[in-house]
Amino acid sequence: MNETTQNDMRTIPPLARLYLWATRRLYNEFAWSYDLVAWGVSGGRWDGWRRMALDYVVDQPVLEVGFGTGALLLEMAGRGWQVVGVDLSPAMQRVTARKMRRRGLWAPRAQTSAQTLPFAAGFFGSIISTFPAEYVIDPASLDEFLRVLRPGGRLIIAGLVVQRSGAAWNRGNALIFGSVPTHPAAVQQARLAAAGFAPHLVMRDDPPWQVPVIIAEKPL
Ligand SMILES: C[S@@+](CC[C@H](N)C(=O)[O-])C[C@H]1O[C@@H](n2cnc3c(N)ncnc32)[C@H](O)[C@@H]1O
Repeated sequence: MNETTQNDMRTIPPLARLYLWATRRLYNEFAWSYDLVAWGVSGGRWDGWRRMALDYVVDQPVLEVGFGTGALLLEMAGRGWQVVGVDLSPAMQRVTARKMRRRGLWAPRAQTSAQTLPFAAGFFGSIISTFPAEYVIDPASLDEFLRVLRPGGRLIIAGLVVQRSGAAWNRGNALIFGSVPTHPAAVQQARLAAAGFAPHLVMRDDPPWQVPVIIAEKPL
C-alpha cells in the first residue's frame, strides 16, 4: 500500500478499520476458513456472485488478481482458458495449491501485489478481480492494471460492495463505513476514469441482493 492509501486508511471510521484488520486475518492466519466464512455471510451465494465476473470476459489471457482460495482460477482452468493468478497472501497460495492438486487442475500463479505486477505491458486481454481488497482503490494498482492490459482489454471488478434491499442492512453499512452519499461503485468508476479506463457499471440482481459488476475498458 502506498502513502496515499495509508493516508486514506487513517481517515476511515474506527469500525471500518476493525473490519479491515479482521479481513487481513482472514486472508492470512485464517485463510483455511475463508470459503466457509464467505459461504456463511452470503447465505451460500458467494460462488455464484464471483462467477458473474466471467460473463464479461471477451479476451484471453485472463489475469485474476486476489484469487483467494482459487475457486475462479479452477473454474477458468477447467474451461480451458489461458489464465494467470496473483495473490499477496502465502496462506491463500497454499489453500489454492492444495485445491488444484486435489482437482487435478493447474494454473500459473504468483505471490505478488496488485501494485507491482511482474508482467509485460499489454500481455492480458482481461483482468478479473472479485470481492477485491483495498488494492482496488490504490492508484498504483489501477496504473498496473492499465499497463498489463492490451488496448481494448477489460478490467472486470465484481462484488465491490454487495447490497441488500432493506433499512437494517443500510443502517449496518452506514455504521461500519459511515454514511456514503455516493454509491461506492460510482466512486470506483470515477477512480477508474481518472486512471485512464472507460468504465461502466452493471447491477446484477439476485433478490434481495444486488451485485455490482464494473467493466472498465482500456481505450484503443
Ligand atoms: C476478499 S478476498 C477475495 C478472494 C476471491 N477473489 C473471492 O472472490 O472470494 C481478497 C484477496 O485479495 C488478496 N490481496 C489483498 N491485497 C492484495 C494485494 N495488494 N495484491 C494482491 N492480492 C491482494 C488477499 O490475500 C485475498 O486473497
